[in-house]
Formats: sequence, C-alpha cells, structure tokens
Amino acid sequence: MLREKLERLRSELSSRISAIKELEELEKIRVQFLGKKGVITMLMRSMNELPAAEKPLLGKLLNEVKQSAASEIEEKKIELQEQLRQRQQEAERIDVTLPGKVFNPGRRHPITLVMEEIEEIFGCMGFQIGEGPDVELDYYNFEALNMPEEHPARDMQDSFYIDKEILLRTHTSPVQIRTMEKMAPELPVRIIAPGKVYRRDDDITHSPMFHQVEGLVVDRGISLADLKGTLLLFAREMFGRERQIRLRPSFFPFTEPSAEVDISCIICNGQGCRTCGESGWLEILGAGMVHPRVLEVCGYDPELVSGFAFGMGVERIAMLKYGIDDIRLFYTNDLRMLRQ
Ligand code: PHE
Repeated sequence: MLREKLERLRSELSSRISAIKELEELEKIRVQFLGKKGVITMLMRSMNELPAAEKPLLGKLLNEVKQSAASEIEEKKIELQEQLRQRQQEAERIDVTLPGKVFNPGRRHPITLVMEEIEEIFGCMGFQIGEGPDVELDYYNFEALNMPEEHPARDMQDSFYIDKEILLRTHTSPVQIRTMEKMAPELPVRIIAPGKVYRRDDDITHSPMFHQVEGLVVDRGISLADLKGTLLLFAREMFGRERQIRLRPSFFPFTEPSAEVDISCIICNGQGCRTCGESGWLEILGAGMVHPRVLEVCGYDPELVSGFAFGMGVERIAMLKYGIDDIRLFYTNDLRMLRQ
C-alpha cells in the first residue's frame, strides 16, 4: 500500500521536475517536497510509527525516493542556470552591423573659450588665478579702490545693491584688494581674476551681467613699460602677430596714471573701416599703475613697491574675435549661433 504510494510519488515528482522551466518554480518544488515541512521530510518522520517488519524496506525505498528527487532537482537546476546564462548572453550580444548611436557632447560657450584663452596666455607669463565673490562688500568694490561714498566715479558703474553695504560687484577690481590684503607684504603679486560682473545697463553692447578679466602685478620696480610690454604680448597672442597697441590717457580712481588701451583694428589692420569707426583702433581695456593709496590700504609700502593693473571685458573681446555685433546673442542660447 504505502510502497505503491511511494512509487507513485517518485514518478510524479520526476515528471513534475522535468516539466519545470523557471528556477523559481524549481525552488518551490524543492521546498514543497524536501523542505523542513516538505512531503518527503514528513514521511521520514512518520517512519517510526510503522510496524517493525516493514520499517527497513520502506525506509530504504523512502531514502531512494528522497535521493533521486534531490539529484533530479540539482540536475534541473544546473540545466536551468545554463539556459539563463545563454539567454543573457544572447541579449547582450553586440551587433557590429547596426548604425552607431549619435553622440552629441555639446561644446563650450564662446565666452568660456575666450576666458580660457586669456587664462592660457597670462598663465604662460607666470600669472596665477585670483578669486573673489560676485556678491561683494561696498568696501572692496568702491571704498578701498579710492572711491569713497559720493565719489563721482561711482556713477559710471550703476549698481545692484543687496543692502547699503553689499552689492553685486560692478567690476573685478575688488579682487585686487582681496589678493593684496591676503598676500602683503609678500612679493611678487602676479594674478589675473576672471569672473562675472553686474551693472544696470542693457543694450546691444551692454548686458546687466558680463565678464571681465582683471590683472594685477605688484613688485619692486614695476613701471609703465612693464604694463605696456605685457599688454602688447597679450594683444599679439590673442589677435595676431601684427597687432599694435596704443595707450590713451584716462582716469580711474585706483590707478595713477590711468589709460585706455586700444589695439590696431583686426579688420582693417589700422587703415580705418566700419568696425573701428574709421579710426584704425579698437578699445579693449582699462589699465594703469596701481594708486599709492590703494597699495597702502592693502599693506604695501608705496615707497618700496609699485604695480600695474588692467581690466578687460570678455564679451567685447569675444565680439571682436568672432565678429558678433549684438552682445545679447551670448545669452539668448540660440544654438544656431552657439554651434558656429
Ligand atoms: N575696473 C575698471 C572697469 O571696470 C577697469 C580697470 C581695471 C581699470 C584695472 C584700471 C585698472 O572699468
């Protein structure tokens, strides 16, 4: 009776196992028969209750059923794992005849390109990068640069104030002060400071946010000739070997003497054309010798050291370099313009 039952169990189990297609299903069957509370496990336990005469035979048979079930499950498991591995490999196979994926990495903005080029040129001349915050104290933006409250030069840089003492910097010159304050009395100071600046201006050549690169050198015996030589080298690296530069007297409260610096027109090479307004020259930056009062405020002795500084508008240089006539094209994110 029990013997027949066991035989049936064996063949039923065997056919169920061979029909299985998924590993999870196989695991279910294993638990159902061989698990702690599985059918076969329970049968083993109830062996003790059998009459002594039947025990050895039935015990042996049950053991065989158990072992064959276990080994069939193990074989099936290996088979299913192999199938799974093959299916995964199939899915991952690369078809080298398919067309490639179009990969569009984007590119750098023209302003970034020009900034990096400026950094590269001055980097080669031994300048390091200086930094300061966009949200600046009135002290660094104006006061320490020899522009006390009520100074008329403040009018040229109409500003965005956060409160009475804090504003969006109107130029990168505050980085001059921050750098000297930090370094004094160490020499030499030789930095450029690229960054964003903000003014209440908005037309085809002015944007409320634009970029400048400041330059500052302080050391013993620095003269106007050093300024001119440095800027001439820069102009030639940036705009071509044949460039000339010209310094026109100007005024900034934090430099003395001060100058506007022009380069010979990159379109007509100084002959006179529409771009340079027939003058042959293009203005690219403001510069001068660091005012003794500024050196003093920052902890340098103007009797012992001197320096020069300059500040250039990056948009202006990019417009000249790429022949762009409207500054707003840099910020409207028109890809037709940015891709060129
Ligand atoms: N900060 C001045 C400006 O924005 C430019 C400048 C910098 C002039 C350094 C002289 C020296 O107009």
